[in-house]
Amino acid sequence: MSTSYFSSRRPLLCSLLLLFSNSHIVSPLYLTIPSQRRRWQPFSVLYSSSSSSKPPSEPAAVVDMNVYNVPYETAVEQWTAELLPQTAMQEEGIYLGVRDKKNTMADTVSCLIRKAPSTNSGGLGIELFEIAGGRQDGVGITIVSGLVPGGNAAATAAACILPGDSLVSLEVLDPQGKVFFDPIVTECLGYDKTVEAIASQLPSDWQIIKVTVKRLRRKPKVTVELQFPQDEPVSIEIFAGENLRRAMLVRGVKLNDELARRFDSGGSGNCGAEGTCATCVVSVVQGAHLLSPQGLQEQQILQKNPRWRMACKATVGYRQQEGQLKIRINPRQWV
Ligand code: FES
Repeated sequence: MSTSYFSSRRPLLCSLLLLFSNSHIVSPLYLTIPSQRRRWQPFSVLYSSSSSSKPPSEPAAVVDMNVYNVPYETAVEQWTAELLPQTAMQEEGIYLGVRDKKNTMADTVSCLIRKAPSTNSGGLGIELFEIAGGRQDGVGITIVSGLVPGGNAAATAAACILPGDSLVSLEVLDPQGKVFFDPIVTECLGYDKTVEAIASQLPSDWQIIKVTVKRLRRKPKVTVELQFPQDEPVSIEIFAGENLRRAMLVRGVKLNDELARRFDSGGSGNCGAEGTCATCVVSVVQGAHLLSPQGLQEQQILQKNPRWRMACKATVGYRQQEGQLKIRINPRQWV
C-alpha cells in the first residue's frame, strides 16, 4: 500500500501547479511555485588536483535505459511522493513515486561528479527546480532542471545527470571510491530543504561525489502477435518483465493445450506454472531473443522442438528490450 502525497495538480502562473492533499500529514499544507529556476553553487573554490585518482566504475548496462527516458515536462507532471510502509528492503517513509504506474517507472541511477580543475568552482553546478514544496516539514519534490554551464556536474557528469531527475542521496567518496560519510539523503525534499541538507553536510574539500537520482522512464513494451490454429492473429502489448503465460491469461487468451501430456505423470492437466505439464507451450515464430533464456528443465522437456517455449517459464522483454514477438498458440494443433 502506498499513499500519494500530491494528489492533483493544476496549471498556475508558470504552468506548474501542485496541490498538496493528504490525510497522513497533520501540519498545514502549503505550496510554493518558484517563479524561475534557481541555481545553486554554495561552495567556494577549495580543491587540490587529484585527477590521477580513478573513480569507482559503474556496471555496464546491457540496454541503454536512457532510450526510455520521458521528456522533462512529463517528469514534472508525473513525479509524486508516496508514504510507504516498512518492508524488508526499506524503512517506512516518504519516497518519490510516479502517478502513472501502469506506463512509467522510477529508475535509480548513480553518477559520479568530480571536482574539475577547469571549472574553478567548488559547487556541484546543478540547477534545481521545486515542483512541490513550501511545507513546514520540508517535504516536497525538487528536480534537476539543468546543469550550470562550465560547472563540475557539466564538466564531469553531463551525460549522467539529466533534467527531470530528482536527487535522492549524495555520498562523498575518496579517490579509491570508499565512502567518507553517511549518505546525505534528499529524497522528497523541497528546494530549501534540499539545499540546506547538502550545504550543511557536504565538506567543501570534496573531490568525488556519488549522486544517486531517481529518473522517470516509460516501461519498455513488446508487441506480441498471437497466432491461433483456427482464428485470426491478435496483437497485444506486454511490458518488459511480465511473465508470458500470466500476461496472456489476464488478457483472456486460452492456452491449455489438450494434446499436451504432463512430463511428471504422463497424464493431462495444468500444472499451474510449475513447468511440468507443457500445456502452456507456444512456438516462437519471431523474436525469440525477447524472451528470457530457457532453464535446464525446460530445455530438456522441449529439446525436440527448439522453437517451443513454456510460456510459464518465459519473461517478456528480456534485458529490457523492446521489439516484436510472434508466437503460435497451441503448437501441437498446427499441422
Ligand atoms: S503451466 Fe505447466 S508447464 Fe507451463
